[in-house]
Amino acid sequence: MNSLETRLAIGLLMALGFASTDLLSQAFAEPGVSDRGADHVVVLKAAYKRPTSVPFPEDNPYTEAKAKLGQILYFDPRLSRSNMQSCASCHNPSFAWGDGLPRGVGDNMHELGRRSPTILNAAWAEALMWDGRFDTLEEQALGPIEAAVEMNMPLDDLIKKLSQIEGYPPLFAAAFGGDAEITEDKIAMAIATYERTVISGEAPFDRWIKGERRAISSSAQRGFALFNGKARCSACHSGWRFTDDSFHDIGLPDDDIGRGADFPEILKMQHAFKTPGLRNIDQRAPFMHDGSLATLEAVVDHYDEGGKRRPSLSDEMHPLGLTDQEKRDLVAFMESLTSDDEPVTYVQLPR
Ligand code: HEC
Ligand code: HEC
Repeated sequence: MNSLETRLAIGLLMALGFASTDLLSQAFAEPGVSDRGADHVVVLKAAYKRPTSVPFPEDNPYTEAKAKLGQILYFDPRLSRSNMQSCASCHNPSFAWGDGLPRGVGDNMHELGRRSPTILNAAWAEALMWDGRFDTLEEQALGPIEAAVEMNMPLDDLIKKLSQIEGYPPLFAAAFGGDAEITEDKIAMAIATYERTVISGEAPFDRWIKGERRAISSSAQRGFALFNGKARCSACHSGWRFTDDSFHDIGLPDDDIGRGADFPEILKMQHAFKTPGLRNIDQRAPFMHDGSLATLEAVVDHYDEGGKRRPSLSDEMHPLGLTDQEKRDLVAFMESLTSDDEPVTYVQLPR
């Protein structure tokens, strides 16, 4: 094992909490490092390996008919009062399932308080929204339909509207054991099932992890070492989706207190937001809950500076002292996380 691989293995193990700084310094000092190191690389690769199945909940299992119905609902602008806005308006496949805007724009051009996050890989998310206020995709799905500032469509009216579109009841029947009745729960279950099928494909990084040595550039490989080492990004962006599904204040200067609204008594939850996954991240600018950072370079500069110092700032945040080359390497690494997925094809909406 070469020294880069050793550093990678150890950086990752530290991020996983398996090893200490002591082990790190020993590893470089001891001649026997390569034996221990080989095991570490196996652990490292396993930690970033993509899962082989999608977690569908027991009370809403996958069926093709349900996912199909969910896809149609997801892309149908008739779910909004104006007939102009669907889920895909703000979670658009062309922008890696975000919308490319600093803040979402809802009904009647109302600007929302936060940026539209991606729904990529949401099947695995342990908490939803920037502040984690929903636990499941089923719970979340009806919110934006009803919200006056988003799709502005009361659910009773929506059920009437969909029931009158001839093509819809048979789709509900096919998805729900022959029962054609349209209900709130069924709408939520179908949309959630479809969302769980929206998964980022294999990226050059995955091919590198599998052993294809030249799948990513040497700059990106150095970036990966920094990500797990000096820059400590993996303290929060861990695992194959590059998120710990947890909440941190990274010191963005705006006034939004994020998860602090639900946990006013917990100091570290003030200004804390959910760690976003980094898959296909270079297709999703601008970044952060407030869309305040326009490029990945600006994101790396933010971490390099360490963020606004305040009591709630995460203990993992401190100035990094990165060189210009190291900053470029981190960006090259993040760019290697983008998959070339097939374009999403148009769905035929029922009439
Ligand atoms: C007007 C833009 C807009 C529309 C339309 C919209 N969303 Fe969102 N969505 C957002 C914003 C903004 C957030 C984050 C809000 C927050 O965290 O406070 C969000 C968050 C989410 C999340 C959480 C993602 C995560 O990782 O935390 C999911 C899932 C989601 N929306 C699904 C949907 C579905 C399904 C629909 C259609 C029924 C929809 N959205 C319609 C803007 C929109
Ligand atoms: C203390 C935990 C933590 C550390 C360390 C950390 N991040 Fe983050 N990261 C977050 C959180 C939380 C957010 C969302 C913050 C927000 O919007 O307020 C985020 C946002 C991002 C985003 C924007 C994602 C998006 O969809 O908008 C990128 C890119 C990113 N981080 C990369 C990095 C890199 C590169 C490093 C190392 C230099 C790093 N992060 C270190 C927690 C962390």
